[in-house]
Amino acid sequence: RGPDHVSQLPPETLLRLLGYLGPADLCRCSQVCRRWAALTRTGSLWRHLYPVRWATGDSYQGPPGEVDQEPNEEWVRSRQHEGRAYQHWDEDADIDESEGSPWALAAVRREKALLKGLGYHLLPAVGVSVRSLVLAYSSTVSSKMVRQMLSLCPGLSHLDLTQTDISDSAFDCWSLGASPRLQHLDLSGCGKISDQTLRKLSVALGNLPAPQVPGRGGRLLRSAPLPVAALLDGRVPDAAGRKRQAIVFRAPAPGGPAPGPPRVWLLDPLELADIEDAAEWGRRRAGGDTRGLTGASLEGGSSSTSCCCRRSRRRAHRTALSASFLQHRLSAAAAAGGGDGPGGRDSSCCSGPAAPRTKNGGPCPPEGPPSQGPGGACTRPLRFLSLSGCHQVTDAGLRALSQRGGLPSLEHLNLSGCLLVTEVGLQELVSACPALNDEHFYYCDNIDGPHADTASGCQNLQCGFRACCRSGE
Ligand code: FES
Repeated sequence: RGPDHVSQLPPETLLRLLGYLGPADLCRCSQVCRRWAALTRTGSLWRHLYPVRWATGDSYQGPPGEVDQEPNEEWVRSRQHEGRAYQHWDEDADIDESEGSPWALAAVRREKALLKGLGYHLLPAVGVSVRSLVLAYSSTVSSKMVRQMLSLCPGLSHLDLTQTDISDSAFDCWSLGASPRLQHLDLSGCGKISDQTLRKLSVALGNLPAPQVPGRGGRLLRSAPLPVAALLDGRVPDAAGRKRQAIVFRAPAPGGPAPGPPRVWLLDPLELADIEDAAEWGRRRAGGDTRGLTGASLEGGSSSTSCCCRRSRRRAHRTALSASFLQHRLSAAAAAGGGDGPGGRDSSCCSGPAAPRTKNGGPCPPEGPPSQGPGGACTRPLRFLSLSGCHQVTDAGLRALSQRGGLPSLEHLNLSGCLLVTEVGLQELVSACPALNDEHFYYCDNIDGPHADTASGCQNLQCGFRACCRSGE
């Protein structure tokens, strides 16, 4: 048989045509001949991966965000049921279909096969081109699979592992600093995640260069000593029953007289040197200077502020997380010229035009490329982080995120259901997130933490499948 017309097309035209096909059709095309097999392994055809949805027959391949919605509880329960059915399923044993519905078993088998094929055949060829990996609500994905996928996809910017059964070992490759482009990480409902994952994440995001200030003779020093703004007493004991203290530093804003976001130094009661230092800092502060303390509420245990635009904290304000965040991102550009943005405020407010607020009321950096490191390389560009229901996370994990330069681009932070974090840990992390938008900042209603008047409350109050200290009330 002679060559057909399609095979005579130049490769760039053929590639253009392949771009209109879904993942299942691409796989079929790869079996036509070697030339087509090579073409279907072109990275641009596999930028956004949704294997869990593909296993259900949905062939969506566009960028994430446009269709993300928090599913209802009944749907999540059905996925958990499928997961349990899968637990009883053994590839090498006879399947007792009375244990679960045949449809559920067939669905999980299909999903499992697709995930295996992805990890063993597709990602080794196209992994470097992958930007989005969405495994949300998978009932079959394991930590080993995620670990393999992450090691093959170093350029990921969007990772969604919502409501999966993964543990800290899934992120082992991040210890080597393997994901410096990550902008969106959703670990909602991953109850096995602990501080270890946050430490690995912090390493994976890379290091921001230390702030430099001009010294004598124009020489640059690595950093300047920071004046003390407050001594914060931890009123909530930590997991070990110890009360902690922290010092809040007033950091100078780069190039201006106004103070920048405060820095927080946590004190460990077991470190006597730290305690003595704290006493010394406290004496110095008692001697006078408290000008930079805009979070005056920290000291006396009161969360009041004198701002004219004070709003009540929106407790139990439940929205679709990702959809809400997308809405914020879309309208941010429209609001750039002034007016009310999501999470913004009246333009006549004493704090200035609508802008996401930091601890000291300063505006967040403009929309655009994330922080630039030496040589123009992006570092720590994380904008979205959800740890909702990750009940093992503690202040130590939040501290790991605030180190290495903090999270300068973070706008959305969900810590609903993180039962072990305290106001001290929250304060430390928030002080390293100058772009954080209160509208998209969620944590337990029982904590009187940073931005208490304007941050959103816990999102898990009415949620039957994620941790919350008030579940059952
Ligand atoms: Fe939900 Fe405390 S974790 S209110």
